[in-house]
Amino acid sequence: MTRIVTHSVTETEALGSRLAAQCGAGTVVAFFGGLGMGKTAFVRGMAQVLAPTAEVSSPTFALVNDYGGTPPLVHFDMYRVTGWEDLDTTGFFDYQDAGAILAVEWSENIEAALPSDAVRVTFERLSETERAITVEGGSL
Ligand SMILES: Nc1ncnc2c1ncn2[C@@H]1O[C@H](COP(=O)(O)OP(=O)(O)O)[C@@H](O)[C@H]1O
Ligand SMILES: [Mg+2]
Repeated sequence: MTRIVTHSVTETEALGSRLAAQCGAGTVVAFFGGLGMGKTAFVRGMAQVLAPTAEVSSPTFALVNDYGGTPPLVHFDMYRVTGWEDLDTTGFFDYQDAGAILAVEWSENIEAALPSDAVRVTFERLSETERAITVEGGSL
């Protein structure tokens, strides 16, 4: 387990890039922590490594954004996902089978469906500009 405090959006993005460099095909990166914590910023950093031409935005309405890349980076927002059928509809299982790298916001809502080897990234707000970010199950 690694716990790192970031002091800006840029530092959180950089941490995302660092983690992305360690992610192989089929990795599920599961984010925990509420609104405005920096989850999307972290995914933006992941995309800088895995899908550099992609425009990252929280897939709040689409539920899923496929950014491409090899393997592709796929970004989920599970805020409104409540049941297994909903989850299946997002492509959560199909993308894993296809060897994509999954970045999953609001993993609290689908915790029972996470693979046991998921990388868990938990955000805590320390101040307006500081976030404590804990990474479990992966290396940085
Ligand atoms: N250390 C930090 N890391 C990430 N975001 C930060 C940090 N400090 C302040 N922020 C702000 O917090 C917000 C994070 O937004 P976002 O990444 O969309 O969060 P989430 O996806 O968790 O809702 C942005 O407004 C950003 O400017
Ligand atoms: Mg977000």
